[in-house]
Amino acid sequence: MASNETVYNYKVVRQFAVMTVVWGVVGMLVGVIIAAQLLWPEFLGGIPWLSYGRLRPLHTNAVIFAFGGSALFATSYYVVQRTCHARIFSDGLAAFTFWGWQAVIVLAAITLPLGITTSKEYAELEWPIDLLIAAVWVAYAVVFFGTLWKRKVPHIYVANWFFGAFILTVALLHIVNSAAMPATFWKSYSAYAGATDAMVQWWYGHNAVGFFLTAGFLGMMYYFIPKQAGRPVYSYRLSVVHFWALIFTYMWAGPHHLHYTALPEWAQSLGMVFSLILLAPSWGGMINGIMTLSGAWHKLRTDPILKFLIVSLSFYGMSTFEGPMMSIKTVNSLSHYTDWTIGHVHSGALGWVGLVSMGSIYYLIPRLFGRTEMHSVPLINVHFWVSTVGIVLYIAAMWIAGVMQGLMWRAVSEDGTLTYTFVESVKATYPFYAIRLLGGLLYLGGMLIMAWNVAQTIAAGRTVEAPIPAPAHA
Ligand code: HEM
Ligand code: HEM
Repeated sequence: MASNETVYNYKVVRQFAVMTVVWGVVGMLVGVIIAAQLLWPEFLGGIPWLSYGRLRPLHTNAVIFAFGGSALFATSYYVVQRTCHARIFSDGLAAFTFWGWQAVIVLAAITLPLGITTSKEYAELEWPIDLLIAAVWVAYAVVFFGTLWKRKVPHIYVANWFFGAFILTVALLHIVNSAAMPATFWKSYSAYAGATDAMVQWWYGHNAVGFFLTAGFLGMMYYFIPKQAGRPVYSYRLSVVHFWALIFTYMWAGPHHLHYTALPEWAQSLGMVFSLILLAPSWGGMINGIMTLSGAWHKLRTDPILKFLIVSLSFYGMSTFEGPMMSIKTVNSLSHYTDWTIGHVHSGALGWVGLVSMGSIYYLIPRLFGRTEMHSVPLINVHFWVSTVGIVLYIAAMWIAGVMQGLMWRAVSEDGTLTYTFVESVKATYPFYAIRLLGGLLYLGGMLIMAWNVAQTIAAGRTVEAPIPAPAHA
């Protein structure tokens, strides 16, 4: 056991890094299938567990929690060990988080197609699986904070602040929002009722965006961009301001998901104001990441991993500009229920979460498998361009479709009747669903290229153990 303490635990990082790629392929494939179903409603018709209503939550769970979650586990375990000069707190607990998290994903993949669901978006899994998630998450917190506790360097690097906030907040969100009364083994009823239930759900939902889909990935950004660019973070002071402003503001913005509902008017306005304020810390973080490249801009031309990381930040900036605009009540009265929301979601999801994860995993794989670089660097470049074109097709199609739908639904003729029937708006949306499918196929194609490249890199590599530097003596 003692000799273990001289090397980092790369095993658990390797396991999560590989599963990030596997779940990325699976989750995006399901995304492509549901995109095809919106274009051809008969696609896979007649089989209930492959119907749109059941595959859609499977898609969101697979991409957010399986793909995004595995990327977050892999990178946080790597970063916390490397920046603390300490081996992970407990090998056993870390292994439990890996196997436990994979079990959650498999259970989700079985229960969701069977139609077993709480019907709360992003929290669909039923109570027995929720209990397993809570156990895995508490173990994750113990491993992460235990490693910080063991650290051999006095300072706690800012990436760990973001990872730590993500871990603590997700525990709180999950436990509060999942509180329910079980009726049978696979059916429960929420502990909350009516408007309160909706408010708790969207306090959870929005903070899932803020902490699961943002704070943890900012942790990645603060470690992997400086590393890959070979430059220190542009402003360490800004990163600290960014951290506190972001975590304080996100908590209050949830009601923007419930505009014009039974939620009290003041709560809706509060959500709107905090969403507008959120633009500032979000852009502060983006600028800090991008400016880290100052003096090293030329590297963008030749380094495809850096392209992934920097372009992810541009999408982060775009979606965190768009989000505050959509939270303005009058804008939301147009955008809500339309594909504009889906465009916004995927500029954040494909552009920010997807690209930053892929860039970080490309950085990690050769280091974890004893190679100097990926099997094929030109293929990383191909992946970058294929997925970027895919994202642009996806989100541009959804923006146009969304604004068009919003305008068609509210158009009123001179005699006071609605100008368009609903089905006319569906028909007008068709071409955009075809473009979205094409964009999705490109994005999935890029992920398959990555999977091949990773498999080749691993096949020609070997598992390595990296020594922990000896503490410096004064
Ligand atoms: C400053 C930051 C952001 C703000 C203020 C914001 C605001 C909003 C607003 C107003 C909506 C539409 C709500 C509705 O009409 O139902 C929305 C939806 C959504 N946003 Fe954002 N957004 C931000 C950043 C992001 C990012 C970076 C991501 C992804 C990584 C993201 C993911 C989502 C998702 C998944 C939804 C759809 C929720 C649902 O209805 O299922 N957002 N956001
Ligand atoms: C090949 C790539 C992808 C394709 C083709 C795709 C396609 C889709 C489709 C068709 C929907 C349903 C839209 C609707 O209900 O009208 C959807 C929803 C969603 N997807 Fe994806 N997706 C992809 C990748 C991703 C990734 C990587 C993430 C997250 C990291 C993600 C997160 C989401 C979320 C959060 C929703 C629910 C949005 C909402 O309720 O407002 N997707 N996706």
